[in-house]
Amino acid sequence: MRDGEPDAGGPQGLGDAASLGPTDASPPSAARVLRTRLLHVPRNPFEVGPDALESWDDGALVIDGAGFVRDVGDASTVLERNPGLAVIDARDAMAIPGLVDAHVHYPQVGVMAGLGLPLLRWLAERALPHEAAFADEPLAEREARAFVRLLAANGTTSALVFGAHFPAAMQAFFAAAAESGLRLCGGLVLSDRLVPEVLRSTPERAYRESAELAERWHGKARLRYAVTPRFALSCSDEMLAACGALASERPELLVTSHLNESEAEIAGVRASYPADRDYLAVYERHGLVREASVFAHDVHPTDDELSRLTAAGAAVAHCPSSNASLGSGSFSMRRHLRAGVPFSLGSDVGAGTSLSMLNEALHAYSTQAALGESGEPLGPAHLLWLITRAGAEVIGLGGLVGDLSPGRAADLVLLRAPDGSTLENVLSHADGPAEALAACLMLGREDAVSETWVQGRVVHRRVSPARFRGR
Ligand code: GUN
Ligand code: ZN
Repeated sequence: MRDGEPDAGGPQGLGDAASLGPTDASPPSAARVLRTRLLHVPRNPFEVGPDALESWDDGALVIDGAGFVRDVGDASTVLERNPGLAVIDARDAMAIPGLVDAHVHYPQVGVMAGLGLPLLRWLAERALPHEAAFADEPLAEREARAFVRLLAANGTTSALVFGAHFPAAMQAFFAAAAESGLRLCGGLVLSDRLVPEVLRSTPERAYRESAELAERWHGKARLRYAVTPRFALSCSDEMLAACGALASERPELLVTSHLNESEAEIAGVRASYPADRDYLAVYERHGLVREASVFAHDVHPTDDELSRLTAAGAAVAHCPSSNASLGSGSFSMRRHLRAGVPFSLGSDVGAGTSLSMLNEALHAYSTQAALGESGEPLGPAHLLWLITRAGAEVIGLGGLVGDLSPGRAADLVLLRAPDGSTLENVLSHADGPAEALAACLMLGREDAVSETWVQGRVVHRRVSPARFRGR
């Protein structure tokens, strides 16, 4: 469904994409082989079961000169089929597809770790005052560069990013994003009520500034634009109408917002929009619920909202660490699966507890285990699916990335356990690939991400503490 949507540079439509990133100036490289332990989930484990996890203990991935996977499989077979290519020996590592974060706020990294507040107080007392500081352009530039660097350091290669309220801060974001080589989609955040005055816009200005940013950045490098009303509570009908107008004029843009996150927020939306039958209806009235729409949270949906999301082809970013941290409630995977609503995971930093999608997968596991809803227990295949292939589909990159099958762009993460870490110990006892993957999901974090690759090129390489100390 989402496959084949405009992508930021598929095999046929490279545009600027193949030449961007930190290795911009380097000539196209020759085809090469990455030899390592390989794991990916190309089919949906919620449909086909845990066998969806494909792995090769001694695997090899052939990456062509443009950065696309040409062959994958067992090393001996792949090397025989592809003689004479340079081999990168990473047999001490484990490669998984690049991680996908379907909901993360660029101007909220510095406001993480605010424990003990429910959503609306957290916004008023912590997040929004912090975001107001992004009016300062040098600060926004610094934070934008730090944000994209931290995404790559956590193994995230694609993300749908909730932006800032200031156009200059969004220019800084897109410039840093283009330079990073990552596949990032984001947009100017729009509000005209509830938030502090400095964060408010008007429908006319919001439309104009969003259209200008979309014109400048959508489809450039590996970037895309998302029309981004903050949430129904902070937007008047006129503001949502402006968002809807832009979305209908530019159907290739994504739409993203928040939905059904906490009981108090939902009560606020009901009070603000008494004529609408539920929260989703407010967005529907303005044409904001469609195939390229991604709504964060959806912790408290009605059955009717779920079936309307499915009918519209919209998707949900489930953000379990944020939901737990703010006490928003527990997302029901079972209800979304039954209704057929596509969903994947989002870190929701700064309410989320880290930028690591490995960590988010663990929170997803814990949330569903604690909910105890009957159905198939989540295993490593489901969790890896949610942070790779499902994420790619949800944010409209399903035709390009998400697994390591031939034809996909070679976006991947090389995981290596830090010396002396718990992960190293547990991995030494792991019996087979599913157990090794479970260990990485439970214990792996930023420090287990050794290298992050986008389209066959390294965009992040971890500096080991030993090297950092000069030894
Ligand atoms: N709803 C509106 N804005 C936000 C935000 O920044 N974080 C979360 N978690 N929910 C929101
Ligand atoms: Zn959010």
